[in-house]
Formats: sequence, C-alpha cells, structure tokens
Amino acid sequence: MNDADLTQLSADDWDELKFPRPEENGFDRVVDNALSRRGFLRGVVAFGSGAAVMGAGSLLSSTSARAAQSARFPFTAIPAATDNTVHVPEGYNWKVLARWGDPLFSDAPDFDAATGGTVDGSDRIFGENTDGMELFEVDGRQVIAVNHEYVNRKINLPAAQAGTPGSADDVRKLQNLQGVTVMEVVEDDTGWHVVVDSPLNRRITHLSPMAISGPAAGHDLLKTEADPTGTAALGTLNNCGAGKTPWGTYLTCEENFNGYFGATAETELPEEVAAGYGRYGIDPEGWGYDYHKWDARFDTAANPNEPHRAGWVVEIDPADPASVPVKRTALGRFKHENAATALAPDGRVVVYMGDDERGEFLYRFVSRDPYVPGTDTSALLDHGQLSVAKFNDDMTGDWVALTPDATGMDDAQIAVFSRIAASRVGATTMDRPEWVAVSPVAAEAYCCLTNNKNRGVKSNSGGDETPVNGPNPREANRYGQIVRWRPVDGNHAADGFEWDLYVMAGNPDVHADAYAGSANITPGNLFNSPDGMQIDSAGMVWIQTDGDDSNEGDFAGMGNNQMLVGDPVTGEIARFLTGPNGSEVTGLTWSADRRSIFVGIQHPGAPFPDGDGALPRSSVIVVKRDDNGLIG
Ligand code: FEO
Ligand code: CA
Ligand code: CA
Repeated sequence: MNDADLTQLSADDWDELKFPRPEENGFDRVVDNALSRRGFLRGVVAFGSGAAVMGAGSLLSSTSARAAQSARFPFTAIPAATDNTVHVPEGYNWKVLARWGDPLFSDAPDFDAATGGTVDGSDRIFGENTDGMELFEVDGRQVIAVNHEYVNRKINLPAAQAGTPGSADDVRKLQNLQGVTVMEVVEDDTGWHVVVDSPLNRRITHLSPMAISGPAAGHDLLKTEADPTGTAALGTLNNCGAGKTPWGTYLTCEENFNGYFGATAETELPEEVAAGYGRYGIDPEGWGYDYHKWDARFDTAANPNEPHRAGWVVEIDPADPASVPVKRTALGRFKHENAATALAPDGRVVVYMGDDERGEFLYRFVSRDPYVPGTDTSALLDHGQLSVAKFNDDMTGDWVALTPDATGMDDAQIAVFSRIAASRVGATTMDRPEWVAVSPVAAEAYCCLTNNKNRGVKSNSGGDETPVNGPNPREANRYGQIVRWRPVDGNHAADGFEWDLYVMAGNPDVHADAYAGSANITPGNLFNSPDGMQIDSAGMVWIQTDGDDSNEGDFAGMGNNQMLVGDPVTGEIARFLTGPNGSEVTGLTWSADRRSIFVGIQHPGAPFPDGDGALPRSSVIVVKRDDNGLIG
C-alpha cells in the first residue's frame, strides 16, 4: 500500500494495519456462543412488535411506557437519498449556518475557494470537519460550542502533494483548523447567523494552552521537557463527540489522537510507555498528518510522553473566552467518543463515555462529590470513580470499578492507561462504542455500537478476545446496533443495570438471518453504522449515521448517511434527514426555544454546500419547521 492509499484508511483500519490483531482462534466457542444466544436474539429481534412479544427480561416496562403517546413523529419520513445535498421532510427547511473557512472575526480572511486559505488567520475562522456540539445560553445570548474533529488534507492543502504537509506553515494551518469553535449565534428575519466579532467567539486549536487536572496531573508519565510540571499541555486533539455539564460547561472528547504523533528517529521506550503505545496505536510513521516532521512536540523520539497528554475529556467554559480548558484525567484516557452526563439522585455527577475502537469498552465516571447549584464546580470532575461496563448474557450488567486493588495499577496509571486497566477486570469488548445519550424523561441511556468487522474474528489491540456476546451478538458486524441500559433503582450511579438492544441495524432486503436487523428495521428506514445520538425533551432518540453510503450490496437501499428519529417505547424509527453523498451526519443541538436544530455535515464528498467548482466544506446547518413550530 503506498502512502496515498494509506492516508485514505479510516482511523480503525490504520490502527489495525500498524498493530495487527491476533486472529480469534476459539472458533468453536464463538459458534457455540452464537447458537446459544438464538433464543435471546428472537426476543430482541421482536422488539418492534410490541411489549407483549418481548417477554420476561424486556426493558420495555413501566418507566418508558410513562412517556408513551401516539403520533410521536410529527413528520412524514423521507426516502433514502444518494445525491449531493440535504433533504428534510415536507414542512421543514434547512439552511447553512457555518462552513469551514467562514470568518468568526472581521479581521479574518474571506474563504479562498482555490487554496482553502493560508495559515494566516486560520485560527480566526470556522474550522474543518464539524462534529459534536452543544448550545449554551450566556447572559441572554446563544452560544454554540462545536468540535472540529480532523482535517481533509487533500482539500485543506490543495497545493500540497497528496495533501501531505510540506512546511511548518502547512502543519500549523492544519493544527488551526481543528479543535473547537465557540461562537455566538442569533436568529433574525432572515434566519440564523454567526455573530462575527462577538466577545464570546473563540477558537481553540491544537496549539491552545490547556491545564491538566485529576489523578494523572503532575505524574511523571505526563512530564515533558517543555512542561516539567506535567500539568500544562498545548492543544486538544481530534475532538469528536461532546457533552454538556449541568453547570453549563462544554466537554470536548479527544478520540483518534494517536494519529498525530510520529517519530523522526528510533528510540528505546520504557516498557510501560511502549506497552501503552501498542495499546493506543502510537506509531513511528503517524497517520499522514506529518506533524512530527515540523513540530517537535509531536515527535515521540524527542517527546515520548507527549501522547500521554492527549486522549482525554476536556472541559471548556463557553461563557469565559479567557478561561483555560482543563483536561480531566479522572475520566480516563482512551479514544473518547463523547461524554453524556446525568445526575444521580444524591447529586453526584455521572459521565458515560465510549472508547471508539473495535473491541474496546464502555466507561462510566461517578463524581465523589455532589453537584450543588451555585457552588464551586471547578474540581467536580477531578475526584470520583472510573468504572467499565460488563454485560451479562442474562440482560443484566455491572459497572466494574477500576481501582488499584482490582487492576494492580495506581490511580495515575489507571487514568493514563485506562484500556489496560479495563482489560484487567474483564470488561466486555464492544462493537466500537460511539455516542452515549441519556434520556431526560426515563432513567435510561443508549450507546451506538457502530459496527465491528472483527467481532468474533480478531481480538482488540490489548489481545482481549471478542467472541459474540450479549450486546454485540453478530459476528463480523457490519451494520451496528444500539444498546440501552436502565440503572438499578433508576440511579445512574448504581453498580448494576439491565440492558436490551434498542435496534440492530441490518438489511431485510438482502438477509434473512440476524443481518436482516431487528423488527424495527423496515425497507423504509434502512441505515447502517449508528454513531451520533441525542435524546430530545420528549425522550425521542435522534440517531445519526457514519457508515457505508455506497447504496450497494449489503447496503442497498440505505443511501447516504442520515439522521433518524426513534421512539423509545414502540421502537419505531423514521428517517428525518439525509446528508450529501460522502458526508457523515454528526453533531446535533437545539436552539434555546427548541424551534431550530443545528446539525453537523462532516466531510461532504462533493462540493457541498457551495456547488460546482467549489471545495467541499464541512458545515453546520439549521433545520426548522416552516411554521416555526417546536422541533424536539
Ligand atoms: Fe469520531 Fe468515533 O467518531
Ligand atoms: Ca463519531
Ligand atoms: Ca464513526
């Protein structure tokens, strides 16, 4: 595979190429396990047919039923699409709010459609590849914090050879196009706009100063030559999904941080560091960003601890543009997808988090101290217990605490090498946990398990085998599913939970077995690879996809990536929006009056939204009802 091909690989495929996983060898056991699960699966597959069919063990019981009502889809579902634009239901409309390159400040350059802009001012514009986002109300103003996950190097650096940076300026431009945008937005008679020059506008990039707090702060593993204290990092990397705390801060989640690092020379690493590099996929060649050739901070030969300073959840105060973002190490280090918060009945803060890699785990943090409105919240996410999910086949599950006793590691090591700690307690390997969403109307949470072609085929990067198991019931899973759990006593801080599968994506037009999907998959709502997810004020589940949009073979009839709405009670799922071909639909938040939704369109394949001859530009769009009615 040549370099150009290499740069086209997904983060997961790249990791696997660089760090080959052992083939699964317990084949008989895998098959036995799958067969013994058939009875269970029938129950799950019958999900959409009504509560009676579910039988004992079903989660479709009283709490969700409370929210039951008819006509919960106030729109007519739309067909799959394969074109290069966005579609929404009749009676709804959409507009672009912000595109890569749009100025956030009047001193920023206008977008240059030929070059994608130079490094100058690249930290004063809306960044690339929009992802998780949340809206905040600050002194009567509406402010959106939104992630810029990664870059499309061939598009962002059209003058560079195959999109490979050829100078320190190229690298700096890429570093500036990623991170987070905080921007004030306002609606007038002509629609929504970004408030250019708002004092609340801010760009946070791969170069912005960050504080490090929690159990790993100041540990030797986090110290570098530039920061001998191990408490002050630069930049937040690969900001994927997001979250919002009850006290109004933004949580941005560092996912595929490993790809930014490389080495200019061979170097001998301490055993613990080398083991971590293997588990997290830190490779001497990097993933094609080539930062390490131009910025020594990313050269692991010079700075072997720098990768330990990424892979965290970062807390940002959108109300204070001068505040320093804080990397919260108590929430663990892995390929963080998003951070979904809940409050336990006693006020403790619960954060659910997925680690998006094949066969990795689902985590939960519970704060030591309760959240008390009006009091100091600056250390709430620094003290608490990180746990990892173990799913049992009887549809129960447990949060297993990652303690020094259970793992043989100290608190700092557990934070820095959470994956290794989780392997040691026998956590359940999952089909790539993407977003978690917590229902505001029922004590339940959902996690998108996007797909996992290695299920039952290969171990994860830590050597944990990945046989089919309860919430991951299909070998070589190419469609994905959504697992849902309900904590014991309705308490998100409880140790136990019950779970079921809300949906298994599939294709009943192509398959007659479990790959047909669960009963709430119909020819009218086909999709694959659920990824982004938010739950609205009525408890409806908004599902965004990042999958195969070839519309062929196993994926025939699914069309482009899309956003669907699921009823948590009946299981019905209806398609609400389709994205342009080549794009991923990711990131969703609501205006304060809930009459507008903001949706992210990441890496469109064609020149969306500007049309022929333009560069494709990742965009946040706004969707409204024509009658300005409520929308979730
Ligand atoms: Fe950035 Fe797992 O999606
Ligand atoms: Ca995602
Ligand atoms: Ca994804």
